[in-house]
Amino acid sequence: MLKVSTPSKFSDKLLSWFDHHGRKTLPWHRNRDPYQIWVSEIMLQQTQVKAVIPYFERFILAFPTVADLAAADSDTVMHNWAGLGYYARARNLHKAAIQIVTNHESNFPEKFDDVVALPGIGRSTAGAILAFCFGQRYPILDGNVKRVLTRIHGIEGYPGIRAVENQLWQLADTLTPAERVGDYTQAIMDLGATLCSRSRPNCQRCPFRGDCNAEQNNAQHLFPFRKPKAARKQKRVKMLVVQGESGQILLEKRPETGIWGGLWSLPESETTDDAASVVARRFGMQVKEIETLATLHHGFTHFDLEIHPELIAVSSSNLAIMDGDHHLWYDPYEPQTLGLPAIVSRLLDNLSPKNKLNVDSRPAS
Ligand code: ADE
Repeated sequence: MLKVSTPSKFSDKLLSWFDHHGRKTLPWHRNRDPYQIWVSEIMLQQTQVKAVIPYFERFILAFPTVADLAAADSDTVMHNWAGLGYYARARNLHKAAIQIVTNHESNFPEKFDDVVALPGIGRSTAGAILAFCFGQRYPILDGNVKRVLTRIHGIEGYPGIRAVENQLWQLADTLTPAERVGDYTQAIMDLGATLCSRSRPNCQRCPFRGDCNAEQNNAQHLFPFRKPKAARKQKRVKMLVVQGESGQILLEKRPETGIWGGLWSLPESETTDDAASVVARRFGMQVKEIETLATLHHGFTHFDLEIHPELIAVSSSNLAIMDGDHHLWYDPYEPQTLGLPAIVSRLLDNLSPKNKLNVDSRPAS
């Protein structure tokens, strides 16, 4: 059982680490102005503290109050955000400023439901702002906090799955103390952003060293669990190796779009089709004999193709070929220079000599 399993032990340890090592002198710590805290939290959503600092300073100089931001035109707002990335954040910030002026008499709202209703503010950001500005007890759960909690508590499963996310919110809520909630909120964010980093966590200096499930199992890299890869699609197709009496093989030109676009390949059908009926119907040829060949596998970027080839011997009497643009007879004995998918070339190369060419029936050259 982990020693930090009681919430108060957890927050005590974290706060005592914060008192010695936490960041307390960032520009948005200068005062508790909810407008400034809000701007900083939006900037910090997808950007690291170091990159945010100069942007924050310039933004607050350009728009000292929420009313200034609301009154600005959107080009000026975007100009002051340019370079910070994820520009929807700036558009939402501007929209929210206008709503605060219109609906809240230019005062940043203090009720959770009002805060979370503003554009660009989710549950975690709303909780952080209320904790920092007003000491209200709300849990937070951003990417850094998810990493800290999943590692310490060994929480398995991808946090994008609703059940795992609910479990994490529950845990975040249980661990959030009633006292010093602003410091606690900054502390857990700082731990995630500094020591408990994604790729090279500094477990030596972590206050939860010895108490952390991931560290004890040397499994820091597994947490949080990654998004499960979607199972690759499997497709199956029957390839018709239609062979004339002199060994020649019927090829069909593939449509310009889709896999093997524009290459010459073998005619295909559903795996459940009867090959003899397909050949009779599509090509008007009389089938003499059918042999099932070994199944082949080919991996494309988005799916795996399982190829079920059947060798279908047809009588020469009806080999007059249809439209020259889309069908031709291919002599595997003297291959023409045609664009064939590699797997089809290999399949034709691997036909046994008996199949490749009925040597007896070829005129001597
Ligand atoms: N990420 C989001 N908010 C943050 C904050 N207040 N401090 C550090 N990183 C953060």
